[in-house]
Amino acid sequence: MTDVSNDIPAAFLERLPLILQPDDESRMNDFMAGRPLSIRIVDPNLGTDEVQVELEAAGLSASSVDWMPSALAVRPADRRRLQDLPLARDGRLFIQSLSSMAAVVALDVQPGLDVLDCCAAPGGKTALVRMKQDGQGILVANDLSRNRIRKMERVLERLGVTGVDLHQQAAETLGGSHEACFDRVLLDAPCSGEGLFQVSLPSTWADWETGKIRRLARLQKRLLRSALQTLRPGGVLVYSTCTLAPEENELVLADVLGRPPVPVVVEPIDLPCAGRRPGITSWDGTMLPEWTRHVIRIVPEGDMSPFFLARLRRTA
Ligand SMILES: C[S@@+](CC[C@H](N)C(=O)[O-])C[C@H]1O[C@@H](n2cnc3c(N)ncnc32)[C@H](O)[C@@H]1O
Repeated sequence: MTDVSNDIPAAFLERLPLILQPDDESRMNDFMAGRPLSIRIVDPNLGTDEVQVELEAAGLSASSVDWMPSALAVRPADRRRLQDLPLARDGRLFIQSLSSMAAVVALDVQPGLDVLDCCAAPGGKTALVRMKQDGQGILVANDLSRNRIRKMERVLERLGVTGVDLHQQAAETLGGSHEACFDRVLLDAPCSGEGLFQVSLPSTWADWETGKIRRLARLQKRLLRSALQTLRPGGVLVYSTCTLAPEENELVLADVLGRPPVPVVVEPIDLPCAGRRPGITSWDGTMLPEWTRHVIRIVPEGDMSPFFLARLRRTA
């Protein structure tokens, strides 16, 4: 196991054994010393085999991903060379974590469905949602931050993604303004980002503290309540974060589902990826409901990075 204790906050490391099994704790420590690398092929005219050949010709090593045909896992040491490739600079390939792609796979977007991405910027998942819609159906990509929406505009333009309705609104008010408007809703919530921690990038962990987790959990509950109200009956919402903290994951769901604004159930997610674990069953002495077996915690195994996914369906 990599020793990261000189860098990463001690209070965070002390929580890990409460959240992860010992082998997964060791995987998390290794992950913080070096994250995996993956790409999504954006250009519909480019096949995976073709890209793999091009990458290998440039001296990069890439392998296919069973559950995500348009993705390739790339050797992490090749990050800089990958970024410099014309295919990446031209927006025909997009560097995106496999776990981010997993959130969109869990949403099960089909052509013709109307989709809301509540916290969308800088737009990596939005771009994949639009690809899955195949140009059919409404896609509203909302974010609170004007600067990040501008960044999303640039990302979508570079990737050649069109037909996205960019929207700036506090997502906690979307339930009132867009009640029962969407078939699919992605709530990729602002979170403490523990699954992004990298020893070599202090900006990823320097402002972490347990108070931040508590503040974000309060916001996440408001966001989830509001997002559920935007679902049409029968519609599906995916709640995702890139953090390990149960307070921002299972406990947010437990709070909202204890008094949901619309009738919902937690559904299993069909996602055969590496690093998949069930949700935790208890926290801080409190047992959580049995639906936690349906949510997914992704631990850094294979080419996956830490993530949390829950899929909720509005039943009436
Ligand atoms: C995890 S990031 C989203 C990443 C994005 N889904 C992607 O795949 O590129 C969370 C986003 O939530 C936005 N945000 C924070 N508070 C918000 C709020 N109250 N309403 C809407 N968006 C918010 C942040 O500006 C940030 O862009």
